[in-house]
Amino acid sequence: MPTVDGKPAEAALSDSETRAQAILATTVDAVVVIDHRGTVETLNPAAERMFGYAADEVVGQNVKILMPDPYSREHDGYLANYLRTGQKKIIGIGREVVGRRKDGTVFPMDLAVSEARVGEHRAFVGIVRDITERKQAEEALRESHRQLETALAALQAKGEEVKVMSQQLWQAAKLAAVGELAASIAHELNNPLATVSLRVESLLVQTAADDPRRRLVEVVEQEVDRMAGLVANLLQFSRRGQQRASSVDVGEDLLKTLELVHHHFRSRHIRVVQELAPDVPVIQADRQLLRQVFLNLLTNAGDAMPEGGTLTLRVAPGSLVDGRPAVVIEFADTGLGISPEHLSKVMEPFFTTKEEGKGTGLGLAICRRAVHEHGGTIHITSEVGKGTTVRIALPIGNETNPDH
Ligand SMILES: Nc1ncnc2c1ncn2[C@@H]1O[C@H](COP(=O)(O)OP(=O)(O)OP(=O)(O)O)[C@@H](O)[C@H]1O
Ligand SMILES: [Mg+2]
Repeated sequence: MPTVDGKPAEAALSDSETRAQAILATTVDAVVVIDHRGTVETLNPAAERMFGYAADEVVGQNVKILMPDPYSREHDGYLANYLRTGQKKIIGIGREVVGRRKDGTVFPMDLAVSEARVGEHRAFVGIVRDITERKQAEEALRESHRQLETALAALQAKGEEVKVMSQQLWQAAKLAAVGELAASIAHELNNPLATVSLRVESLLVQTAADDPRRRLVEVVEQEVDRMAGLVANLLQFSRRGQQRASSVDVGEDLLKTLELVHHHFRSRHIRVVQELAPDVPVIQADRQLLRQVFLNLLTNAGDAMPEGGTLTLRVAPGSLVDGRPAVVIEFADTGLGISPEHLSKVMEPFFTTKEEGKGTGLGLAICRRAVHEHGGTIHITSEVGKGTTVRIALPIGNETNPDH
């Protein structure tokens, strides 16, 4: 009988087996040993804890009870394939697979397999590591990465917004500066203009009707009038928060203003339809400012209907978007209309499509400011070739808004 270290061979074998068992028992990693058919030979205590089986429940069974579908179904095939071809898919390589515990729960694991040959006996030793926590950490990392990316995108969007807003602010500041400059120039022009106007008038008086120079003086008078109009507009535009509020019957003031353009409208074949509701409350407003608004809108409507048309004026009780009671005034013309690209600009100061000398582009800007100063809203809808409707809503109370 062969001996090892002088001991009988069988005793030596069982001795080394005991040592091997002791090593396996203390190994922190889970170890599963199978034979060439996939039958479990050994399940160390760490593997028992990991899979929730006692060793004797698994030893002698096919290792696939430790795997969920589809791995469990495929395992026999893998093993047979390796034994036939020697092609290594996992042995000596190790990879991430999925394990199944006795209670049916499934968990990710790192599996390293090595092959042990003892004579004819082939065994496969699998060292298994539960990587649930690592997977969770990876997922958490991916999640925080995703969150970071979302936050970054949001930040970028905000950056864009800030850029647009600062541009708008800059525009507004520029406009305010232009407005102030225009106002101070208008103010300076007011006195010399008055002087010129007076002189021209006395010149006219002194010029005989048949004097050939009379026509020239008349032209000067007309032009001076136009300049005075422009200056008055500019001053009106830069006027801020100096309202004189009183009780205003909107319908009545609208008709009074209409009288100013009545002849002009008639000569242009413009028909005016009045739709004034009977029960419109009186509002607290600056009468002069409102009349200016009405005149600007009537003039615009008249200019938009060079071939004649219909202007419908509506006054009715209504409310603002926030629910405050208001008086709603509409100017609906059947004129040329405004193209969509112009519609967003018409209320900007100095925007005009009228030929030089005809319009300053301040009419609607004045309207908007005046309406806002009254805490109201102004809205324009238009269709080219069909007409334009300007809708104003003014609150009945006197909550004014001089910041606009
Ligand atoms: N009812 C309307 N129909 C068609 N276009 C209009 C109407 N009202 C205003 N617009 C357009 O809006 C532009 C700006 O109007 P706004 O009253 O501010 O200036 P303007 O009439 O050109 O000049 P101003 O009123 O200072 O004499 C006009 O030039 C015109 O193109
Ligand atoms: Mg105008």
